[in-house]
Amino acid sequence: MELGLKGKTALVPAASKGIGLGIATVLAAEGCRVVISSRDQNSIERAKKQVLQQTGNREVYEFKADLTVKSDIEQLIKSAKQKIGGIDILAYNTGPPKPGTFAELTDADWEEGVRLLLMSAVRLTKGVLPGMVEKRWGRLIFVTSTTLRQPIPNLLLSNTVRLSLAGLSKSLATEYGPKGITSNGIMQGHILTDRQRQLAEDVSKRTGKSVEEAAKQVLAEVPAGRCGTVDEVGYLAAFLASDKAGYINGAMISIDGGMIRSVF
Ligand SMILES: NC(=O)c1ccc[n+]([C@@H]2O[C@H](COP(=O)([O-])OP(=O)(O)OC[C@H]3O[C@@H](n4cnc5c(N)ncnc54)[C@H](OP(=O)(O)O)[C@@H]3O)[C@@H](O)[C@H]2O)c1
Repeated sequence: MELGLKGKTALVPAASKGIGLGIATVLAAEGCRVVISSRDQNSIERAKKQVLQQTGNREVYEFKADLTVKSDIEQLIKSAKQKIGGIDILAYNTGPPKPGTFAELTDADWEEGVRLLLMSAVRLTKGVLPGMVEKRWGRLIFVTSTTLRQPIPNLLLSNTVRLSLAGLSKSLATEYGPKGITSNGIMQGHILTDRQRQLAEDVSKRTGKSVEEAAKQVLAEVPAGRCGTVDEVGYLAAFLASDKAGYINGAMISIDGGMIRSVF
């Protein structure tokens, strides 16, 4: 299927590895001009080289930006616009929050969690929307988690703050749908990245099980019997970014191998 993404401009933050890099790679393979970012200059440069190697697309640009810092986000938006012009597609991704139970998390952890998981999305969206409104075309795609449907033990920040992101996406769909912009979310389950390994280590520490056992235990809940890949999330994001998905607006789409059992 031709997605018609050639020449579109895309911003994918938190993309030096994992899901963000997977999405950026698929968008670059589809011919988008892509800006990627992360906190570490070396990692994001490596990621850019990897995208170039895998896709042959030379129009991939990297910037350093910590998504918990307002001025970094403002600078990222400015630099991205200078490089690729207005942003057609915001494929919002962010770093993983600190794991922890309610008893373990401090006030400072909560404030950091809100900056990382919610305010970064608000600020990036504010930065890209005016150009989308002017063009009367835009795609907002928010990477969230299955935690929206079912809270995950020891991930209190994710369980709580990401629900606000879902509210934001749905509200944007209503406000900006009439202006040719769609806003949707992706609720991914277990996707094979460093974050999955980090979570398995966390379970191992808490339960005394080995990391391998902890990882296996996670998969016992997944009918597909495996973790998803970052490419699979990337293909979903690319479809949502395309004109073919023009009538999908205000949706939260699961990609979890059948893990969440509820019907709605
Ligand atoms: N993998 C899963 O199974 C899964 C499931 C549900 C939800 N999620 C969520 O999906 C998102 C991506 O997960 P992932 O598995 O791809 O994680 P990952 O492999 O650990 O990659 C995280 C990316 O975020 C960047 N990052 C971290 N903190 C940042 C910050 N403050 N500002 C800017 N960039 C930052 C990292 O680069 P630098 O270190 O260079 O900054 C890296 O590129 C996370 O929010 C995660 O919690 C993941």
